[in-house]
Amino acid sequence: MKNVIVDTGRKRYPIYIKAGASDATGSLAAEITGITKALLITDDNVDRMYSRRIIDSLEGEGFSLSKCVILNGEGSKNIENYIKILTALSKNKISRNDTVFALGGGMVGDIAGFAAATYLRGIRFVQIPTTLLAMVDSSAGGKTAINFDSGKNQIGAFFQPDLVICDPDFISSLPDEIFRDGCAEVIKYGVIADGRLFKMLKGPAMRQMEGIIERCLMIKSRLVYEDEFDLGRRQLLNFGHTFGHAIEKCSNYSVTHGKAVAVGMVMAAAAAEVLGICSSDCYRDIKEMVSAFGLPCKTDIAEGELFDAMFSDKKRSLKEITLVLPEEIGRCILKKIPVAELGSFVRFAMKDKEMTSAYRSCFS
Ligand code: GLY
Repeated sequence: MKNVIVDTGRKRYPIYIKAGASDATGSLAAEITGITKALLITDDNVDRMYSRRIIDSLEGEGFSLSKCVILNGEGSKNIENYIKILTALSKNKISRNDTVFALGGGMVGDIAGFAAATYLRGIRFVQIPTTLLAMVDSSAGGKTAINFDSGKNQIGAFFQPDLVICDPDFISSLPDEIFRDGCAEVIKYGVIADGRLFKMLKGPAMRQMEGIIERCLMIKSRLVYEDEFDLGRRQLLNFGHTFGHAIEKCSNYSVTHGKAVAVGMVMAAAAAEVLGICSSDCYRDIKEMVSAFGLPCKTDIAEGELFDAMFSDKKRSLKEITLVLPEEIGRCILKKIPVAELGSFVRFAMKDKEMTSAYRSCFS
């Protein structure tokens, strides 16, 4: 079994990666949380497919389980479902020694993690991601949140899980679209920190899935170790996300996270090329890789709308916004853009090939 350790200095926990690992959820969890009462949180789709198998494993080990099911989709990551989960925790008399299990994609992990972080000021929490996106990104690193009127993930907490179980078997039954969403995050890791991973993606990705997930999580674990609270280097993980979150918000979350991040990565690369930060080859490689996975490279959302949505993004400070821009495949930089220049920046990023070097002078 592949095993990546996340160590924040305050907390250390394992991520197990192996096909079939979820069948051993009960024994893997028992070693870490002890045998406790537990609430399994999942969505209706995942519930139909996988809950039984996880419940059998947990109950077989002696866990005493209740279940809370919410509707699938990012729209469910809201305050109403947060209250629904808290109510289930409270009704089932879950105590501080008990455990929350999140079984599902990023939406389930985020909202379940936020409930685990805040109920009784924090209880044990195990992530069992069922999508590629959740395996390589959202299930590890401790970002938990719900969406709010002002944007995505606006109410949340840093709360590290006690254990993450990644079972790549889940991936083979994913609808193509959801699989591709995860591929956007994998491409991201290649661009920010691992040129070799980027090359691996040119081969048959499914056959190397455990290795790909492990490489992504090793990068994530290193960045979380260096910067748990996202004040510096961890922001590299936001490559494509500042534009991406704005696209998600403007589309009322009908554009999925992975697709929005895919467009965001191409936009960031386009802007980096205009600014002379990366070469046109680098921009082209990123765009081609995004297209090769059937992900979009462009959005038809208007510049002004996108700008407003970026401005409400929680990552902004009053005067500037930090964007992640590629220098080459495998290396990105954090660049602070004054808010006054953000409008032009969004324009450059959206102009695609129409951009000319004349724009560069604006940022010299
Ligand atoms: N998803 C980005 C991060 O965990 O920092």
